[in-house]
Formats: sequence, C-alpha cells, structure tokens
Amino acid sequence: MRDPVLALVPHPVRCKRLGDAVFALRATTRLIASGPLFPAAEMLAVRLRQSTGWPLPIAARRTDEAGESRIEFRQAATVLPDPEAYTLHVAAEQITITASTSAGAFYGGQTLLQLFPPAVFGGVPRPELAWHAPAIEIEDAPRFRWRGVMLDSARHFQPIDYIRKFIDLLAQHKLNVFHWHLTDDQGWRIEIKKYPRLVEVGSRRRETTKGHGKYRTEGDGLPVTGYYAQEEIRDLVAYATQRHVHILPEIEMPGHAQAAVAAYPKLGLLPKAREVSCRWGIHETLFNVKPDTLAFLQDVLAEVISLFPFDYIHIGGDEAVKTQWRQDADTQASLRQLGLRDEDHLQSWFIGQMAEFLRRHGRKLVGWDEILEGGLASGATVMSWRGAAGGIAAARLGHDAIMCPYDAVYFDYYQGGSPSVEPLAIGGDLPLHKVHAYEPAPAELPAEHARHILGVQGQLWTEYIPTTSRLDYMAFPRIAALAEVAWSPRERPPFADFVTRLCGHLRRLDCQDVRYRAPLEFLHP
Ligand code: ACM
Repeated sequence: MRDPVLALVPHPVRCKRLGDAVFALRATTRLIASGPLFPAAEMLAVRLRQSTGWPLPIAARRTDEAGESRIEFRQAATVLPDPEAYTLHVAAEQITITASTSAGAFYGGQTLLQLFPPAVFGGVPRPELAWHAPAIEIEDAPRFRWRGVMLDSARHFQPIDYIRKFIDLLAQHKLNVFHWHLTDDQGWRIEIKKYPRLVEVGSRRRETTKGHGKYRTEGDGLPVTGYYAQEEIRDLVAYATQRHVHILPEIEMPGHAQAAVAAYPKLGLLPKAREVSCRWGIHETLFNVKPDTLAFLQDVLAEVISLFPFDYIHIGGDEAVKTQWRQDADTQASLRQLGLRDEDHLQSWFIGQMAEFLRRHGRKLVGWDEILEGGLASGATVMSWRGAAGGIAAARLGHDAIMCPYDAVYFDYYQGGSPSVEPLAIGGDLPLHKVHAYEPAPAELPAEHARHILGVQGQLWTEYIPTTSRLDYMAFPRIAALAEVAWSPRERPPFADFVTRLCGHLRRLDCQDVRYRAPLEFLHP
C-alpha cells in the first residue's frame, strides 16, 4: 500500500519523491508572494491558517535568513506553455510553487494541500498535528481546458451554502467549470428582476412523484420551493472566481419550459394554464416563437449576462418535442413566413436568434447536441450527451464541443452492481471504473478537428437526488475519477493505482463531511 500522503488526485503529469525529507509547517512559517500570484497565496494561507490556527503571514519578499521556513510563490521566468501549469518543489526548509498565472499558482496550492494531512480540509484548528509534507518535485498541467460538472438545481433545489461547498470541492479536484442548470419543467430557480413571477410561481412545485416516474404517478404531497436571489448569485460568482471556477448558467429553451410557462402562460402554446410540473420525463410544453416571447427570453438572458461573467451562456436546446409547434396554426404561419422547412429548422432559427443576441453582448452560446438538428447556429459550442456523435459532428463542422456522454459521465446513473442494493436512481449503470476509463478524445478525429474538443463534463441531474447528502453520494467519488480523466495525461496510471490513491483522498472528503459512496467493491474485491 502506497503512503497515503502521496494520494494525489488527479494524478499530476510528473511527480518524483526526493528522499525521506519532509517540510514541517510551523507557527513561524511565512508565505512569500506578490503581484498576480498573491491571490493564490491568500487562498492557500486561508486554508492552512484555518487548519493549524497559526498566523502564516504573506510577505512580498523572502528574508534569506538561514532556516527561514517559507512557502514561496514564484513567477515563472518564461511563460509556461499552458496558463494553468505549475511546478511544485517541496524541500526541508522551503516550498516553491512556480507558475505563469494566478490559476497555475492556485493549482500548485491545491496539490500542496494534498501533501499535508487530510485535516487540512477540515476547517478547524489542529495545531497538535504534525503538519508535514514530503519532499517532492511535481510538474503539472491540465490535459483539457474545459473540466466541468453540471448540477441540476431545478428538479431539486440545493441551498446556496451547499453550492458554495460544491464549488470548493470542484476546485480541489482541479475542475474549472460549474455548469448550473437553473430552469426546467419542475422549477425556475434564478431571480429575474423584470419578470418576478418566474420565481413567485415558477420556483414552487406542489409535490413530487413518488418512486420512479416510469412506474408511479402518485405525488408525495410535499412542496418543493427555492430560488437563488441575484445578490446570492453575485457572491457565489466572486467565490467561484477566487477558486478559478467559471460558472456556466443554463436557461432552458425552447423545451423544458413548463415552470416559465406556468408563470407567464403567454410564453407558451397551451389552451389553458398548467402548473409547474410535479412529474418527471420529457414534457411537450414549449415556448412559442412569437417576437414578444423571444424578447422576453432575451431580457432574461440580459440579466443572466449581468450576473455571470463567463464567456459562455447555455440555452439548453435538448429534448424539445415539437408536437405543440406542429399543431399550432400561428407557429406554422411563422415557420412558412420564415421560409423554413420544418420544426427542426424552426428550432435552429430560434437558437440562432439567441446565439446572435449573445454574440452582440460578447458571449458565446452553448447547447445540448440537439442544437445540431436543423443546422448549428454560428459559433455555437455543443455539449455531446447522447454519446460522442454530436461532439464529433460539431468538431468536423469546425465548432467547439464538450464531451458529456450519458454512458460515461452521467452521475445520476446507478453506480453499484445492482439497483436492488442502491438508493433509487434514474437508471443506467455507471460504476467508478467506467468513469475512470473514459477517453474523451474520439479516435476518429484528426488533429485539426480534435482541437475542437474542449474537454469533458460530468452531469448531475436531480430528479432522483432530493437531498444534498444523496447528491454527495452520487457525485463522489465519481467526480474524483472525472478529475483524472479531465486533468491527467492520457497515459495516466491504471485504475488500480487510482483506487489506492483514492483511499487517502476519501479521508479528505471525510474531513469535509462529504457523504460519498464508499467504493467497497474496489477496495475489497
Ligand atoms: C439531457 O440529458 N437531457 C441533456
């Protein structure tokens, strides 16, 4: 069994132990940092101060006194090839993290935390512990630049404090995109000042189907409510930015629209008002294509843009069953007026209107792979979820794509051998080793197209994830395996090595009260 202090997850590019020496953090240790690397030093210092109770001040320069105990952040003399790259050198008296950017320095700090005892993640002072890190040399850089996890806060609502903790956990795993699914048939969870009914009506669901939606329609009688106020979102974005996590907001259209249509029936095509949905599965409720509806949605996007600084905005685009558009005379008239062939092309036109709006505001559109149907909007980025085909098609067309296939990275799927021994989930079968074995770069893509595969992303849909402890259970440790797929080189150590490192890594999660699923079948096969 490997020394648990070397339980680095994700595995770095290169890593070499330097004998048996250790760096011993002391009450007198100082951090040295200035300029762009200072914020990364501050993030590291906060965590070390919390877990040791020591002052650990940050100074701009070292003193060069003999025996000065220091953790020094150094600007790389030449710009490293990857902006997120870093090197970490741990010796007996000093630790040096070298990076070109604040992101690289931050990731060097995250790796260093993993060299200290797991209690470094505990958040309470433990001055009695031996705060040792082994002497080591690490060179590291990410394989992919998009390393994401999507969380569905529409089907079930998670308190903002949990979202904050979740983002912190992503950063610890060197994941850098938090895709936030904020609207769906069963709930609208983002405050929009211009249209208050979106949360007044849209964030309240009367009840939820009991058991699996496929077999039962009886409701539980328990209301589900909750939304994120704009002030909370601004704070969250600042928190995520400090941790080099971009937040990608998703506002679903033209399908998954029922909560919005319940709030403002004029946006839809229904003969009579319908409530925020209390059941799961694909719904037929669509937004109509009237100019007022498009303007409404663009008003919503304008507020979303003002809250989230990320270059990208996600507009959904998945599972829009076109029945209502097909049966509605006004929609059909619009379709003919626009000279469009069919409803797929109408969806493509609809998404194109949003892409153009986002472009005018300096943002890029992301959508699920159905946005390929009827033609891909100019500059759109595709999330390939129904397998790899959507990502491959997008890349061949010269569009960027993110690999999110359900059979490799849908963390709402079962993860044990049999559903009969697991809490209720949506279905599927995605054990840890299958996540770890996933290869996001499609073999059939030549280099000029492969560069369009920006990265990989795990999905947490929450129909069957009603609580945050269940969310922890579904997310971890599969997110640790995802981190290795997204960050570590293609030639990463095998699964057995990952499992060995995971033993140490799970202790870090324990220290943070993460209610992960213990992967017992791999630890005691
Ligand atoms: C999806 O799973 N409907 C993107």
